Amino acid sequence: MAEAKTTAEIPGLSKNACTVLEKRYLKRDTEGKVLETPVDMFQRVARSIAEADRNFDKKADTKALAAKFYDIMTSFEFLPNSPTLMNAGRELGQLSACFVLPVGDSMEDIFDAVKYTALIHKSGGGTGFSFSRLRPANDVVRSTSGISSGPISFMRVFDAATETIKQGGTRRGANMGILRVDHPDIVNFIMCKDDQKHLNNFNISVGLTEPFMEAVEKDQDYDLLNPRDGKKCGTLNARKVFSRVVKQAWKNGEPGIIFLDRLNKDNPTPHVGQIESTNPCGEQPLLPYESCNLGSINLGMMVKGGEVTWTRLKEVVRLAVHFLDNVIEVNNYPLPQISEMTRANRKIGLGVMGWADMLILLGIPYNSPEAVRLGEKVMHFINDEGHAYSRELAAVRGTFPNFAGSIYDKPGEGAIRNATVTTIAPTGTISIIANASSGVEPLFAVSFVRQVLDKNILVEVNPIFERIAKERGFYSEELMQRIAEHGTVHDIEEVPEDVRRVFVTAHDITPEVHIEMQAAFQKYTDNAVSKTVNFPNNATIEDVEKVYRLAYTLDCKGVTIYRDGSRDEQVLSTGKKE
Ligand code: CDP
Repeated sequence: MAEAKTTAEIPGLSKNACTVLEKRYLKRDTEGKVLETPVDMFQRVARSIAEADRNFDKKADTKALAAKFYDIMTSFEFLPNSPTLMNAGRELGQLSACFVLPVGDSMEDIFDAVKYTALIHKSGGGTGFSFSRLRPANDVVRSTSGISSGPISFMRVFDAATETIKQGGTRRGANMGILRVDHPDIVNFIMCKDDQKHLNNFNISVGLTEPFMEAVEKDQDYDLLNPRDGKKCGTLNARKVFSRVVKQAWKNGEPGIIFLDRLNKDNPTPHVGQIESTNPCGEQPLLPYESCNLGSINLGMMVKGGEVTWTRLKEVVRLAVHFLDNVIEVNNYPLPQISEMTRANRKIGLGVMGWADMLILLGIPYNSPEAVRLGEKVMHFINDEGHAYSRELAAVRGTFPNFAGSIYDKPGEGAIRNATVTTIAPTGTISIIANASSGVEPLFAVSFVRQVLDKNILVEVNPIFERIAKERGFYSEELMQRIAEHGTVHDIEEVPEDVRRVFVTAHDITPEVHIEMQAAFQKYTDNAVSKTVNFPNNATIEDVEKVYRLAYTLDCKGVTIYRDGSRDEQVLSTGKKE
């Protein structure tokens, strides 16, 4: 069988990875028959992305480069975001995970954006929007002498479109909806997912501004502005609004917050436009009509004999930046506006997965100051090497076209190929393909029940834990089951003390440490960091508020929290809840 051969050819490919690849990634014929093996898929991707080198050198050895790309993907040292795996070298050819679309204050603009969203979702991309330009509900509509529906009703249209497309598309489309805190409809927006029935295809975040945060500090009122004319149309008490956000987030995890002025402080091309939204999971701030392709290095593969393999890490960073810059070349963009903006800024988002695995392999508990220090060091290294390689590329391929006037356009800085180089993605699916812990998150559990692509329920034991348990003779199925039900190993006596110490899971870690880790990675990331701060079910509203404020103090760009059991559906859960 093809599958058995494949597993032999790609030794690290797990059963779960095969399931995921077969379900959505491998090429099929019109009757749904799978036409390629995972080996074919990785070859298709490697060849297609390497081909871009010919745009700069007609005689480039793309075969040798494709072999290198194939190697880093099948060793699971690096994987690009899902749309690249699905679509590279195929007819659709849309390779980016992240898009931001503008939503203007007219019927034409709104429904154009709905249509563009449909096109993007069909290809496996996710969309973020700011709805802040829409006039508030019950405002005047001159052409019909009627009243406006407001941003939240229009969000429902986007939600319904997403719901319909996901039946036939490559994967479930995701949206980010953002409203500025000074929009007159902000209170309704904060409450818009309260019943957990509406807007299920949206993540929502409140766009907080510096004046608002100052008003929170000083317990003052702040102004609401009507986007139709920019005029003040009311005031609210900043602390009350902030408390409302915190209370809702405590209740069911939403809204998140993003610090808009901070995103714009780090906007590399302020002369081109303002950042008003991020992609669906929050890690990629983009200009309207901009897209970005992501890729992640598996840090668990960057440890040998209890040491970080810095030399290999550097090689993989360089190849990864080369890969991601090539993606921009061969990408088939869903709209001319997106093609133009993306090619003009050439943003890429190189990040990591397997951070928790790396720490375990090094014997460092995630919730230790040493782990936070190492996180900073690793990301500093990746960011520096990534930028260095982007500069080398610029010497051959030229800078990104919007370079003049960008933050890099100053004496002593010089040419760079990509307006941004680093982003920490959630790696929700590619971490399953790589059999790695996701993004920079701690292990969710040592053994757990996972729901994949809405359906399959898989019982899983962390592969590193399973190996250690077998090597040291304390493995039994009964124990794994018990750990899944219990959710943590920290008080399980059969597990040796030194193993318990490093297998800390999301709920063994205080929310403060979650934020400190996010901040450590953010410090050396051009874009943002995808991170969920997990709270136990019995956390208080005050606990959540403390973390939201800490994120602000520690220079994070946003926060997403989740209190265990607070939502009807959870993607990941420990066995005890099932
Ligand atoms: O692991 P994978 O490459 O599939 O994706 P991820 O790192 O979990 O998510 C990266 C980005 O892909 C998200 O922030 C979204 O922009 C997009 N995405 C989406 O649109 N729909 C999904 N179902 C999952 C991710």
